[in-house]
Amino acid sequence: MTRKTARLTIDGEPGTVELPIHESSAGPSVIDVRGLSEQGIFTYDPGFMSTAACDSDITFINGDDGVLLHRGYPIEQLAEHSSFLETCYLLLHGELPEAGEKLEFENNIRYHTMVDQQIHQFFRGFPRSSHPMSMLVSVAGALSAFYHHSLDISDPEHRMLVAQRIIAKMPTLAAMCYKHGVGQPFMYPRNSLGFAENFLHMLFGTPCEEQDINPVLARAMDLIFLLHADHEQNASTSTVRLAGSTGANPFSCIAAGIAALWGPAHGGANEAVLKMLFEIGSESRIDEFIRRAKDPDDPYRLMGFGHRVYKNFDPRATVMREACDRVLEEVGAAADGALFRIARRLEQIALEDDYFVERKLYPNVDFYSGIILRALGIPTSMFTVIFATGRTPGWMAHWNEMLSGAYKIGRPRQLYRGPVKRDYPVGRFAGNSA
Ligand code: SDX
Repeated sequence: MTRKTARLTIDGEPGTVELPIHESSAGPSVIDVRGLSEQGIFTYDPGFMSTAACDSDITFINGDDGVLLHRGYPIEQLAEHSSFLETCYLLLHGELPEAGEKLEFENNIRYHTMVDQQIHQFFRGFPRSSHPMSMLVSVAGALSAFYHHSLDISDPEHRMLVAQRIIAKMPTLAAMCYKHGVGQPFMYPRNSLGFAENFLHMLFGTPCEEQDINPVLARAMDLIFLLHADHEQNASTSTVRLAGSTGANPFSCIAAGIAALWGPAHGGANEAVLKMLFEIGSESRIDEFIRRAKDPDDPYRLMGFGHRVYKNFDPRATVMREACDRVLEEVGAAADGALFRIARRLEQIALEDDYFVERKLYPNVDFYSGIILRALGIPTSMFTVIFATGRTPGWMAHWNEMLSGAYKIGRPRQLYRGPVKRDYPVGRFAGNSA
């Protein structure tokens, strides 16, 4: 294949700058602009709207067609036929596991779900009213105190072990954040349970009685984790990559990712969607909120709508909406059914409105997830913690991918617009009594 080249001419500069183009296996090719710095000029792309910060084999998104592939497998097929842990294996290893590999991976996760007993002490310092994300970001980073000295991140086996450890411990930490808030004792993970079942057990179980986990709800929980598993170079994954590029401890890189995910423009949107639906309160008030979202002078946005990449349906939202129906039917949540009806009507109105159509604003992964989570009995403040638990394999897969090859510390440049060089006014207070 002939190598393509982009040629750049710069006003006032002689000659042409030749920049190689790298072809993708799917989606946009890239112009390699690394040579520009030798010309004394940078590219400028705040928000990275048109910038590829790395190459990756893990996840592909076609935003115009609403396509999401994990190692080539469509999210719809993984949602229907796979499981969260099998998808974790796929993201980390690049291929679906054989039967023996799947069993071994599930056992590796199962036997790493407990956290050091000392971690329990960290929670003593948090007010009961702490937001669960403030606790999660703290205790996830604290795990670096337990796994650091013997960790060699240049060793592929060490990296895979730490990835399994973090995937395994995240639901345990997540459940502890919830239990601390409700003043109930922490529940230890149970090795006889599957990943999602175990999470629901640690979340809602108490030492006082045995708890039956509804298999329909456990499957819905597993699906929610699966749908959040990875999403190429989103803000939190890019944060994990940037932190990892300095050689930082992987637990601290995950803490950085959790911090970035918390924002309402990113993973915090699922919590914001429920608050918005409650604020709307009835289908009769939907038009009022649509008007606000369209008003250029009102910063209000329709939470759960729009996406930097998807300019079509977010395929995860479609799967989530179908799961919503099943869960609401199973739990018979009439009240949540009203929320779901408001959400469906809001979606329908928005998708018929020119403002949303012109800007290609569609429901994203966060639009329906909150309704399912609420129907599962999970409080709104825990929604982004659930998102972080689901996104952990994606964060670890990208961290591992970067460290598996040649990489450089991430260090963006800038367009400087401050004062040019000026001398300090020596003696400027001379004559004044100091
Ligand atoms: C996630 O990156 C990922 O992959 C993220 C994620 C993942 O899995 O990791 O998919 C998870 O973060 C999903 C997104 C969750 N966030 C929300 O639902 C919050 C609401 N949505 C937005 O704030 C917004 O749509 C973003 C942040 C998601 C995307 O913002 P962009 O790409 O920077 O788009 P923009 O702000 O430039 O908006 C373009 C136009 C603007 O109008 P104009 O200035 O052109 O007139 O669309 C408007 C915006 O005002 N707009 C909205 C809107 N989102 C964009 N108007 C009303 N409501 C909205 N939700």
